[in-house]
Amino acid sequence: MTKIVNSWNDFDPLKHVIVGRADFSVIPPEEPATSEKVPIDSEMRGMWGPRPTATVEAANEQLDNYAKILEGLGIKVDRPTPLQWNQAIVTPDFRTESGFTQMPPRDILLTVGNEIISSANSFRCRYFEYLAYWPLMKEYFDEDPEFLWTQAPRPRLTDKSYKHNYYDEKISLEERLERTAAKDFVTTEFEPMWDAADVMRVGKDLFIQHGLTTNRTAMEWFKRYYPDLRVHAVNFPGDPYPIHIDATFVPLRPGLIINNPHRRLPEEQRKIFEANDWQIVDAAQPAHDTPPPLCYSSVWLSMNCLVIDHKTVCVEASEVHQMEQMDKLGMNVIPVPFRDAYAFGGGLHCATADVYREGGCEDYFP
Ligand code: NVA
Repeated sequence: MTKIVNSWNDFDPLKHVIVGRADFSVIPPEEPATSEKVPIDSEMRGMWGPRPTATVEAANEQLDNYAKILEGLGIKVDRPTPLQWNQAIVTPDFRTESGFTQMPPRDILLTVGNEIISSANSFRCRYFEYLAYWPLMKEYFDEDPEFLWTQAPRPRLTDKSYKHNYYDEKISLEERLERTAAKDFVTTEFEPMWDAADVMRVGKDLFIQHGLTTNRTAMEWFKRYYPDLRVHAVNFPGDPYPIHIDATFVPLRPGLIINNPHRRLPEEQRKIFEANDWQIVDAAQPAHDTPPPLCYSSVWLSMNCLVIDHKTVCVEASEVHQMEQMDKLGMNVIPVPFRDAYAFGGGLHCATADVYREGGCEDYFP
């Protein structure tokens, strides 16, 4: 019996990680939460069905290569067990015509110390995505007597969980930005809903983005579930599609965070970092003007990096500006080709979930 699961942040030395797989990925049909995620001018609007095989193969090739690179650094890599997502997702409360993927484990699994919690996602198509990780959870459970295998309260995702006709009319970018600034999102506060990728873990503090995929009720749930941790709601007013914090606000090591220059943390919320001598620097510009085809994410996946330890970081291989900035910030950069996997749910950070990092629960913001 050994300790398998331990991780309190995104920067202490990484020893064991899960890397997603693209198999059987589907572009899901529109549903109350997802229509807001697909930009109005995206070629994906109105489209759904299994992703083309050639794109799945190309993504898997890059995911496999990423796993090899991490193994080459002495990191143990586990992979999920793919499920056939091209089938209806049905519960007593709803039916939607397909599932999604098991590419971005970061959206589903939140590691806090010796616990991994499966999230309470607001997308109906993601309702059973956690099953792809269950064989791994069972392994960790068998081997690590301290591992806490947890499922967050499952949302019912009935019509009460969403605002209706929220984006019925074509809505301009300006209006989207106004809604973000007003913290007016598609989800209601009927029940806690959250994606694990909205949570930035920094030891005793959890910074959680309030946006399209995580609501205030979830923050309240976190506060009660972790009475010994501090939960901070953060907002990034410049983001018309506030989903997941890891292309917006990314810690590189204790005391240093890169922030998307279009989605700056408001003054009021910066205080806790400044008061504790943390530096927040603008991330470098992405190298690309557009995301790859059929991609949900923005070009800011450029900053969606995986920190290996306080001096080493994996950055997407074509992101020359981000790599140069990392170098200037004193990091050794490992370039990882990954743009073929972007469309399946994100970048190098999204594609992983922490199992073990060295270090404990530090108080960085006393
Ligand atoms: N909202 C983010 C998702 C990043 C994983 C973006 O597309 O920029």
